[in-house]
Amino acid sequence: MPLKEKILQKTAKIGVIGLGYVGLPLAIEFAKVGFKVFGIDDNPEKIEKVNQGVNYILKAEEVLLTSLVKEKRIKGIVDYSILKEVDVIIICVPTPLTKNREPDISYVESVNKEISKYLTKGQLIILESTTYPGTTEEVILPKLSENGLKVGEDFYLAFSPERVDPGNKSYNTKNTPKIIGGVTKNCRELTKILYSQVMEEIYVASSPKTAEMVKLLENIFRSVNIALVNELAVLCKKMEINIWEVIDLAATKPYGYMPFYPGPGLGGHCIPIDPFYLTWKAREYDFHTRFIELAGEINMHMPYYIANMLIEALNINHKVLNASKILVLGAAYKKDLDDSRESPSLKIIEILNNKGAAIEYNDDYIKQIKIKNKIFKSIDLKNLKLKNYDAVIIATDHSYYDYKKIVEESSLIIDCRNILKKYKNDKIRVL
Ligand SMILES: NC(=O)c1ccc[n+]([C@@H]2O[C@H](COP(=O)([O-])OP(=O)(O)OC[C@H]3O[C@@H](n4cnc5c(N)ncnc54)[C@H](O)[C@@H]3O)[C@@H](O)[C@H]2O)c1
Repeated sequence: MPLKEKILQKTAKIGVIGLGYVGLPLAIEFAKVGFKVFGIDDNPEKIEKVNQGVNYILKAEEVLLTSLVKEKRIKGIVDYSILKEVDVIIICVPTPLTKNREPDISYVESVNKEISKYLTKGQLIILESTTYPGTTEEVILPKLSENGLKVGEDFYLAFSPERVDPGNKSYNTKNTPKIIGGVTKNCRELTKILYSQVMEEIYVASSPKTAEMVKLLENIFRSVNIALVNELAVLCKKMEINIWEVIDLAATKPYGYMPFYPGPGLGGHCIPIDPFYLTWKAREYDFHTRFIELAGEINMHMPYYIANMLIEALNINHKVLNASKILVLGAAYKKDLDDSRESPSLKIIEILNNKGAAIEYNDDYIKQIKIKNKIFKSIDLKNLKLKNYDAVIIATDHSYYDYKKIVEESSLIIDCRNILKKYKNDKIRVL
């Protein structure tokens, strides 16, 4: 049966490679509407959890995953040879930066090598990992074409960026509009039909590299605008103007303005990383991406700025940072999430630790962190005497914190998120 019919009848088997923040919710979405989904991951612990119905990405959807596993709609598997049995393969593996901040597409390449080994006529391959424009056609396609199969006729290839916003209560995998870019007309059409089965709105780009660029534009837009307010936050502090009040008032304008908020730095697997994929690619065209670099520089400086705010505030209390007892609240990069990738909290802890401060942290979502070979364990807030610390830094504004108690009992607070805005107290220093 042609792939189009299989997709429409939901008899097409789908393989999702990489069961992380992007892959697992996507696999669930396809299984939910009736497809048989194989989730492939090289981490056996994750596979075991999936097959036990444990949703390590979204606790709220655990019951759903458990029932999908029971109904044999989702099966986790480590062995790539399952790829020869599936009709659609969706790649959701990490695309980090190397130590020297260049694109590390080794995960995508190694997965692609496996796919090419098992590639069979009629399969549709879709890359969802964020990457630089050109990856689908310059990296994925040549490898898949090596054994003589022709794209658009024998197999189909497309790029479709994942746009999920972790923790967003209104937008999820299903109702976030989907962008697709196919290598040929057939690739485009099949990809559109596939995603139409699970997503509400689909927009078709004229090429994979356009779709790849769309995702980067979205993330660069965020990075640059966050850098702008971070810079203005630093200036406003010198001018004794409250940046948060400025932003709230500017946001009353019904057009031409969109609020972004300052913070201790960028975090997560997207905004601090993706823009530099374009910076790297642009060099091929003798082009220097100045906005991206400048935004990166400003955003990366923020944890140092927070450390300096703390040093100055301690100084006013006749204390030095060295040997001071500091409690950092929040290790996740965003409130109410369990993701500490690229989190500015980690950088802040590293900076303060290097300067001799005695650091403890709490994050009920992240029980342990490792910074330069040193393990820190999240401390229990129950029975904790906040007065015993020289300062408390609110790095992440998790909802479970008792902010009233923090204000009442701490001797000095650095509030990186303006979460204490309703409290007026000299011991609060807001970014
Ligand atoms: N997290 C987000 O909010 C988000 C949003 C949009 C786009 N993205 C992009 O989606 C991609 C995936 O991000 P993520 O956050 O889901 O990452 P993740 O680290 O949560 O998940 C990736 C998964 O891939 C697995 N994996 C790694 N190498 C593998 C291999 N060779 N074979 C099989 N499995 C392998 C890992 O074990 C992991 O489970 C990245 O390109 C990212 O930039 C992420």
